[in-house]
Amino acid sequence: MSQKRIVIAGGSGFVGKALAGELLRRGYAVVVLTRSPGKRSDAVTEVAWDGKTVGDWASELEGAAAVINLTGKNINCPHSPENLRSITASRVNSVNALAAAIAKSQSPPSVWIQASATGFYGDTKNHVCNESEPNGAGALAEICRDWESAFTAVDLPRTRKVTLRIGFVLGREGGALPVLSRLTKFFLGGAAGGGQQYISWIHLADLVRMFVAVVEQERFFGVFNAVAPRPVTNEVFMDELRQVLRRPWSPCVPEFALRLGSWFMDAEPALVLMSSRCTPERFLASEFRFNYPDLPEALKDLCRKVK
Ligand SMILES: NC(=O)c1ccc[n+]([C@@H]2O[C@H](COP(=O)([O-])OP(=O)(O)OC[C@H]3O[C@@H](n4cnc5c(N)ncnc54)[C@H](OP(=O)(O)O)[C@@H]3O)[C@@H](O)[C@H]2O)c1
Repeated sequence: MSQKRIVIAGGSGFVGKALAGELLRRGYAVVVLTRSPGKRSDAVTEVAWDGKTVGDWASELEGAAAVINLTGKNINCPHSPENLRSITASRVNSVNALAAAIAKSQSPPSVWIQASATGFYGDTKNHVCNESEPNGAGALAEICRDWESAFTAVDLPRTRKVTLRIGFVLGREGGALPVLSRLTKFFLGGAAGGGQQYISWIHLADLVRMFVAVVEQERFFGVFNAVAPRPVTNEVFMDELRQVLRRPWSPCVPEFALRLGSWFMDAEPALVLMSSRCTPERFLASEFRFNYPDLPEALKDLCRKVK
């Protein structure tokens, strides 16, 4: 029997690399759509696309078991009007290109998993958001609204559609954790901007297991919050990280210092100052088993020395 093929658009990044590795281990053939195909050391096939127009890459979707779209310009840049436009365009264009390609295919993918983000809910303050909460306000919420609207508008009767609203992904080799760990080791790991804003985090390994579960089980459809069950405040997050890294104390980082630091680092302070308190209600209801439901164990796993 031939291998089942999974196409990951934007699969060259932080989440895509981990996901591709797990899918290969599980016996799938993995195709990554990328703007810069090159030599990879693993068994992934890279195919060129531009993320916005249908091209030769569309043939990879023919008969695929799944298409997973992780494409998007990184949001950790100053949220100037121009950057916000390209952050949104990179996401919406990729959805539209995949939709047009699938619409033309004879044998469309069985499932399309589309990345979105918990930024959909805006600044949640202390309010707990499950998947039924409406779209919030602010730049990130608007990006997610346009991104998800493009996906919702796609009518593909033969393809199951699933959206994962992904939280703050914790991994060893990407995302914000390596940066936070370095700062913490230099005694700069204090609570940021008051520290009462929530972080809806998820261990990369659990996120990858969510993608696999959605690919393999037809009962998953619609929108899911892809976060761990127990979000924590920024203060608790930094405290746990300091404990794991054995740096018991650090001064707090007031908002003005955070804004200044972000300016020097060409980053966006809102990503740290905004509260995101989300729960994975639909994954819990589906009895998805989290390997890392609590932050201390997730951080211990990710911060231990790898031999
Ligand atoms: N990491 C997180 O904490 C997190 C949280 C919430 C949501 N998400 C969402 O999950 C998805 C994957 O996240 P990630 O951390 O793996 O992101 P990533 O490392 O930045 O990878 C995204 C990929 O998108 C492609 N890309 C970037 N800019 C593009 C553009 N202008 N046009 C077309 N393609 C472009 C790149 O692939 P090529 O350069 O190879 O074309 C890149 O490898 C993203 O959509 C992200 O918004 C991530």
